[in-house]
Amino acid sequence: MTPDLTVKIGKLTLKNPVMPASGCFGYGEEYAAFYSLEQLGAIVVKGTTAEPCAGNPPVRLAETPAGLLNAIGLQNPGAEVARGKIRRLQQYNTPVIVNVAGQNPEEYLQVIRILDEEPAVSAYELNISCPNVRAGGMAFGTDPQVVNSLVRTVRRATEKTLIVKLSPNVTDIVAIARAAEEAGADALSLINTLLGMSIDSETRRPLLANLTGGLSGPAVKPVALRMVWQVSEAVKIPVIGMGGITCAADAVEFLLAGATAVAIGSAHFINPIVCPEVVEGIAAYLARHGFRAVREIIGLAKKAAGEEGEKDAGKDHCRP
Ligand SMILES: Cc1cc2nc3c(=O)[nH]c(=O)nc-3n(C[C@H](O)[C@H](O)[C@H](O)COP(=O)(O)O)c2cc1C
Repeated sequence: MTPDLTVKIGKLTLKNPVMPASGCFGYGEEYAAFYSLEQLGAIVVKGTTAEPCAGNPPVRLAETPAGLLNAIGLQNPGAEVARGKIRRLQQYNTPVIVNVAGQNPEEYLQVIRILDEEPAVSAYELNISCPNVRAGGMAFGTDPQVVNSLVRTVRRATEKTLIVKLSPNVTDIVAIARAAEEAGADALSLINTLLGMSIDSETRRPLLANLTGGLSGPAVKPVALRMVWQVSEAVKIPVIGMGGITCAADAVEFLLAGATAVAIGSAHFINPIVCPEVVEGIAAYLARHGFRAVREIIGLAKKAAGEEGEKDAGKDHCRP
């Protein structure tokens, strides 16, 4: 029997829990050459601003051990052009989630005003976590009060599913997650990239023109997993987990930690068909372990950890 892979995120029912992470999949066009995008649980497009944005000057990418530093700076064609590209994605019968970015609350609202009447847009992912822009971006995502106020403002502007994407560059991710939930977010996605940098020892200069960039890829997976674990137990809304997923086993770890769905970013640059492979791998995992639905494994590692805790309660772990 084929396991049931459907999950719910806000008003959306996804046919499976796997989607590309924003910024690593453009507007889907390039990947449609490799497989039918219909196989995705959702399509998440690049961070979109009201006006076109050229992004940061090069060098904008640097490889690190098990990771990637990027300082793209939200290069995108602007909401009007993006709208045309998003319309073309309708043929895949898969929800399209638009990652929305802005320098101030008014710009976030402007993007939503342009896209809200568009039936091809199923949901928004509010990017309050981009580390590579001077104004807006991560500046919005690191203070619970600012998060609350921005999410409230956007919530009033749309009835579509609203996902808020959190930054890992904070001391207390749970406080930020709760602020977004209280302000009306339907779901949370985490993590965006971790602020980092690289220096070329030969030229003695920082490698990225922007000096700092966002770290992603397998190097960040343990941090992402820990944050998904903490946030999913603190909020009632679903969590979309991401950070370093390259295969089905990684995705299953996020589901076991409490994520309802997963997103895959940097892995696309080495394997463009990673998403359908992960969908297939999750189905095989469920079948192999006798689960009938992916929903059955969400947060299961927490249950196991709780049971271990109960068994161990009162034991003195310092004594053999
Ligand atoms: C080149 C690149 C561009 C990105 N652009 C965006 C973006 O526009 N909006 C956004 O919210 N996140 C963006 N991200 C972050 C990813 O969506 C994702 O949160 C992060 O990379 C962690 O996942 P990964 O380790 O699977 O890449 C970008 C990441 C990379 C590597």
